[in-house]
Amino acid sequence: MTEKIKVIMDCDPGIDDALAMAYVAANQDVLELLAITSVSGNQSIEKVTRNALDLSEFYGLNVPVAEGAHEPLVREPQFAGEVHGNTGLGNCVLPKAEKQVEKENAVLFLHKILSELPEGEQAVLVPTGPLTNIALLLKTFPEIKSRIREIVFMGGAAKGGNVTPAAEFNIYADPEAAQIVCKAGVPLVMCGLDVTTQCFLTKNQIAKLCQSNNEVAKVCGDMAGFYISQPYNKYKGTVNVHDAVPFMYLVHPEFFSGEKAKISTDCSEGVSRGSTLCDFRWWNYKEEEMNALVLNKADTEQFQQHLISAIYELGETRKS
Ligand code: RIB
Ligand code: CA
Repeated sequence: MTEKIKVIMDCDPGIDDALAMAYVAANQDVLELLAITSVSGNQSIEKVTRNALDLSEFYGLNVPVAEGAHEPLVREPQFAGEVHGNTGLGNCVLPKAEKQVEKENAVLFLHKILSELPEGEQAVLVPTGPLTNIALLLKTFPEIKSRIREIVFMGGAAKGGNVTPAAEFNIYADPEAAQIVCKAGVPLVMCGLDVTTQCFLTKNQIAKLCQSNNEVAKVCGDMAGFYISQPYNKYKGTVNVHDAVPFMYLVHPEFFSGEKAKISTDCSEGVSRGSTLCDFRWWNYKEEEMNALVLNKADTEQFQQHLISAIYELGETRKS
């Protein structure tokens, strides 16, 4: 029996964070979710923490939720209400969770969870929002790096951007935090737009989810339906489920491929603020300096099938 992968989800739900959490909940035979931490990003910390509590309870995830950074390290918060709606989950209204948020802040809670791992064991951090909490953890408790197997994050882009032509939202929102993570020397897997734009659901696939009498499928379909109805996605007729990619990479690495690079983040105020510079020139660096695997290829069909079946399976198992 292969060991489960211990993971911690650091998120800013957020519609694609919500679908990613459903995927995790349906794959607990492979992923051992130790905790969920929230970070200001798509919406305010109050809203994303509320959403993390309600989603995890709705999905039947019996894991602690800790509230993280209220703002980026330096920059002003820039929420994405035009993409994820005023609540952060489109028009979806979930039952209010009974469980309460942890009394400790996410940074202290991350340190506690990682420090209390059995000797020699490590966990994978999976941030799907701005990297503020992760940067604070690494700067406050540098010794904790030895308990982190790798950081598999949704963010950045070797080419292009979404929130600007040069930058992806999670990195743009807190470029200083991203730079701290890039330079920390921890093994990284960057699930940037290069790969997440290949990981989408179509209008028809979303319509089928919405028409389902499977409760989880209906909720995920309604959220994705809101996402696809926004001007930002409408013209494409598809919606990128960015945040499910890091988790599916952990469960099915064979669906993805990429290239090693040394990555850094533009922390200027200029037009390239928040861009991720991926340096693939391996001959210029020692192996340990090329500490990021930048994913650039996904099997779109496998992604769609596995995400959709995970959502339906979760709906079935939740009932039982
Ligand atoms: O650029 C996409 C990322 O920004 C996703 O994580 C989405 O949820 C938003 O946080
Ligand atoms: Ca997110």
